[in-house]
Amino acid sequence: MNYVIVYWSRYGHNRKIVNYLSEKLKEKNAETKIFTTDEANPTELPEADLYVFSAAAEAFNLQKNMRSFMKNLEGTNGKKYGIINTHGMDKNRLQKMEKLLSKKNMIKVAEVDFKVGKNITSGNALMDGWEAKVDQFAEKL
Ligand SMILES: Cc1cc2nc3c(=O)[nH]c(=O)nc-3n(C[C@H](O)[C@H](O)[C@H](O)COP(=O)(O)O)c2cc1C
Repeated sequence: MNYVIVYWSRYGHNRKIVNYLSEKLKEKNAETKIFTTDEANPTELPEADLYVFSAAAEAFNLQKNMRSFMKNLEGTNGKKYGIINTHGMDKNRLQKMEKLLSKKNMIKVAEVDFKVGKNITSGNALMDGWEAKVDQFAEKL
């Protein structure tokens, strides 16, 4: 399998999650490519068997760089995806991600969210057990 992972991260939590995910997928002999939303072009994403998008909740919405990245996606008709959302408050933004990607006729395979703890600016606010949640997510991809 060949995966393209696109993320946005302010303090490093989403980066940490996708780096760990990529290692897990490689253990299954997958090929992975990781890009930030700034590095990838939403109109010309590299070919992949499955796309993973990972970003935070900010300002009561999906973080805006990821939001516009998803709105600008082209050429993803019928492609499969997994989504990851981190959030400080109780509500996650997976539904928003799904809504944007369904407009691109993409097909959801898996989703996972992580509530982060208080000390967000440290970049170490993921809760104990987050790796196991990523492992479960990786199994579904
Ligand atoms: C400017 C700002 C706005 C935020 N707004 C929300 C919010 O509306 N809802 C929420 O659940 N978390 C909110 N958060 C917490 C972020 O979700 C959290 O910082 C993020 O998940 C951490 O991931 P990252 O380090 O990869 O950016 C906000 C954080 C910042 C910095």
